[in-house]
Amino acid sequence: MNTIFYQALIHAFKDSNGDGVGDIPGLISKLDYLQWLGVDCVWVPPFYASPMRDDGYDIADYYAINPAYGTMEDVEQLIAELHSRGMKIMTDLALNHTSVDHPWFQASRQDPQGPYGDFYVWGDDPQRYPEIRVIFTDTEDSNWAFDETRGQYYFHRFYSHQPDLNYDNPAVQEEILSVVRFWLSKGVDVLRLDAVPYLFERDGQGGESLPETFAFIRRIRALVDAEFPGAKLLAEANQPADKTTKYFDAGMHMCFNFPLMPKLYEALATSSATPVYEVMDELGDIPVGAWANFLRNHDELTLEMVTPAERQLMYETYLPDQQSKAHTGIARRLMPLMGGDRRKVELLFALLLALPGQPFIYYGDEIGMEDLPELPDRYAVRTPMLWEDGPGHGFSDAPSPHLPFASGHSVAAQQEDPTSLLNTVRGLITQRRQHPDLATASYEAVEAGVDEVLAFQRGGLLCLFNFSEETIDLGPVELGPFGYAWVPVES
Ligand code: GLC
Repeated sequence: MNTIFYQALIHAFKDSNGDGVGDIPGLISKLDYLQWLGVDCVWVPPFYASPMRDDGYDIADYYAINPAYGTMEDVEQLIAELHSRGMKIMTDLALNHTSVDHPWFQASRQDPQGPYGDFYVWGDDPQRYPEIRVIFTDTEDSNWAFDETRGQYYFHRFYSHQPDLNYDNPAVQEEILSVVRFWLSKGVDVLRLDAVPYLFERDGQGGESLPETFAFIRRIRALVDAEFPGAKLLAEANQPADKTTKYFDAGMHMCFNFPLMPKLYEALATSSATPVYEVMDELGDIPVGAWANFLRNHDELTLEMVTPAERQLMYETYLPDQQSKAHTGIARRLMPLMGGDRRKVELLFALLLALPGQPFIYYGDEIGMEDLPELPDRYAVRTPMLWEDGPGHGFSDAPSPHLPFASGHSVAAQQEDPTSLLNTVRGLITQRRQHPDLATASYEAVEAGVDEVLAFQRGGLLCLFNFSEETIDLGPVELGPFGYAWVPVES
């Protein structure tokens, strides 16, 4: 499998009806662009009925489409249009929690003895599970919230308006399997299992990556194998390296490479390839293609799993002020993280496309779009795409779109300029296609002999990356500041 993934936020991609909010017909109208770029699979985050207090990850109905985005027919058309171009679609299965607005939760709080009474994790003791950490530290100081109607506390791993589903209830498991079946029957190719480590809680054992969670993942995988054999499952499991790999054992086809991601930034911060060599060693022998590699996404650059010293280094290098901090991470886009230095941005894209795994591109990063740190939550990195220059930026005809525009050079301007970042990224994607080894060959670390340089072999290609501003002469190859090269060698 050689799949270039591209994450497009519907509300920020293209507004087709002039109401200031991006929508599904808008996304469909931009598939030509994605095809031109070389994208194989489009990841669309949750587009369901939702009060939108967590950008749609707070779902009120798994089977209804957010009316601001379009209709079920629009979704069907999106899937059909993608498939007719030989492209795929990935959507989220946000299975850990729902919105408080979900009818299951409303029934659960009003009728504890009724069919939904046990759908969520209720309790009388808000001190239970003391070992379970709070993830959304900016807004929450506990994983429990009190519900006046029921007179009990409910457990929530994220916002207090997102109660966790109770996976100890077999009826919850069946409902979620029905959601899987529904969307895979619609033709969804890849499901991202959102926040999947947190499905179960156990006294004394916490609430992350428990055996019960792996058992439920196996049930989803069994369903996929039996009924939708071509479909793939991808885990969003922000866990340490040794835990992340367990998700493959449980049947996930792919896992986001959370252990690797911060190491790429650390390598640039220290002008040393050592952090990348070390983490690649730690990740061990995973089938090529199973890692979902990414530089940025719709969330903050998370720093929950790195050591305190590494976190400090990352803050010192990449956090200019507290405004850009989100929870323990940094809510910034790629270009501003790199201080506007295009050489570093290109180096990271080259790495993304050469490391073993499937590359994920976050919309807007391919044009080096800036962010808007003054926006709340993680909206700094979720602003509308810049398609053209001028008012509305080709995103919308509305006088003011739902989110302000960040600055940057538009797609249209960059498409015309052969030296633009956009054309460079597109060229790298083309090169990856021309060298199938980058998609399929195993990864062999190579000793570069210079700490600044990462070297590895993928089949018949030697890949070299210079994390420093110095020009480095490696004999046959000279790497300029932040330079990279893919050199044919004997395999
Ligand atoms: C996932 C999503 C994130 C969301 C969180 C809670 O981690 O990536 O955007 O806020 O789940 O719903």
